[in-house]
Amino acid sequence: MDKIVVTGNGPLNGDIPIAGAKNACLTLMPATLLSDEPLTLTNAPRLSDIQTMTALLSSLGAEVSSLQGGQVLAMSSHDIDNHTADYDIVRKMRASILVLGPMLAREGHAIVSLPGGCAIGARPVDLHLKALEAMGADLDLKDGYVHARAKGGLKGAVVEFPFVSVGATENALMAATLAKGTSVLKNAAREPEIVDLAECLIKMGAQISGHGTSDITVQGVDRLHGATHPVVTDRIELGTYMLAPVITGGEVECIGGKRELVGAFCDKLEEAGVDIIETNRGLTVKRANGQVNAVNVTTEPFPGFPTDLQAQMMALLCTADGTSVLEEKIFENRFMHAPELIRMGADIEVHGGTATVKGVERLKGAPVMATDLRASVSLILAGLAAEGDTVVSRVYHLDRGYERVEEKLRACGAIIERVPE
Ligand code: UD1
Repeated sequence: MDKIVVTGNGPLNGDIPIAGAKNACLTLMPATLLSDEPLTLTNAPRLSDIQTMTALLSSLGAEVSSLQGGQVLAMSSHDIDNHTADYDIVRKMRASILVLGPMLAREGHAIVSLPGGCAIGARPVDLHLKALEAMGADLDLKDGYVHARAKGGLKGAVVEFPFVSVGATENALMAATLAKGTSVLKNAAREPEIVDLAECLIKMGAQISGHGTSDITVQGVDRLHGATHPVVTDRIELGTYMLAPVITGGEVECIGGKRELVGAFCDKLEEAGVDIIETNRGLTVKRANGQVNAVNVTTEPFPGFPTDLQAQMMALLCTADGTSVLEEKIFENRFMHAPELIRMGADIEVHGGTATVKGVERLKGAPVMATDLRASVSLILAGLAAEGDTVVSRVYHLDRGYERVEEKLRACGAIIERVPE
């Protein structure tokens, strides 16, 4: 298991290219199961989670070729010859549950293991299952697997989600494309990844409207065809790298960044005293002068402040001027980075879903442990601003979601190294 060693050395300056979105790619890939014609994704990120999804789709009979160094994924699901998504693959990644809707919709049956994934709370999949049941699926939970059947195919339905779920919206949206009749997904997620999925499905021949709003309408069609689709920019990678110059006091242009992907996050940074400039290549970010101001942050579904940027924002606020309150509304137990930041000298108190962060003048390097994907990158950000060396262990979490992180930061002047443990 590798470690990453970061040595704080002052302001970072330069350009950072932002990759295609992990979470969009992980939902676009299972869409291949909806059609017997090829689906090609461009702008794919090169991450271990993508390899896990490749292994899962391949185990079901899909052909997935990784081209151009992994940036193009050429997929074909002409024959689905296995209808069981095995625990051994599914447990590695929660997004595996996204094969359920497409397989059920095209094949009328599927068996999928219940997923594991990041340790950030209970994270059940009941909303996914209820949506598919509303479309006529018979579901049985046996030995940790969901056994799903839709005799005569899925039927269009009105699905009202009791609260917003990205994954459940994605599963239901894919399933509805091949269901008989009209489906309406109410209180649907509005994340850019949902819009990206809907746009790809429309290219494949699906009839969808209202994506990007809370009510998505899908008119089922008999079959979908092939398509080529570029994966949307990763808004979480974008937000993460936007923080690098802020936390170190430099200036970085995030190439490919768009404000509309991270609007609420930009608003908070500006409130903290950060300058954000839209350029013709992306977004330039710089910390005007001195410390940033403390700000209060509440995570919410899109277009609110993303839960996937909460840990990184906390790293920044550790050295802000004043006291910040961060409220986590999406996942319980998503402050596992707090004790690690405290090891670096941060002053943080956690009570339930609320963390109170009193800004200190400077963090100090320490050995710390990555506990989940976003927590791991928050520790790297903190290390960039700290005095001395920060050694982050368990970086396999990081590799699930950030491609070439050392290379990207080093290009801006960071001292960061990966060392085998
Ligand atoms: C997706 C993202 C994840 C991100 C999250 C919120 C992927 C692969 N993952 O996760 O990185 O942090 O959106 O933006 O795209 N819930 C239920 N029952 C369900 C489904 C969800 O209770 O059936 C709960 C969850 O525990 C959580 C909340 O609903 O408290 C939101 O979860 P959801 O939006 O579904 O997140 P994911 O799709 O798992």
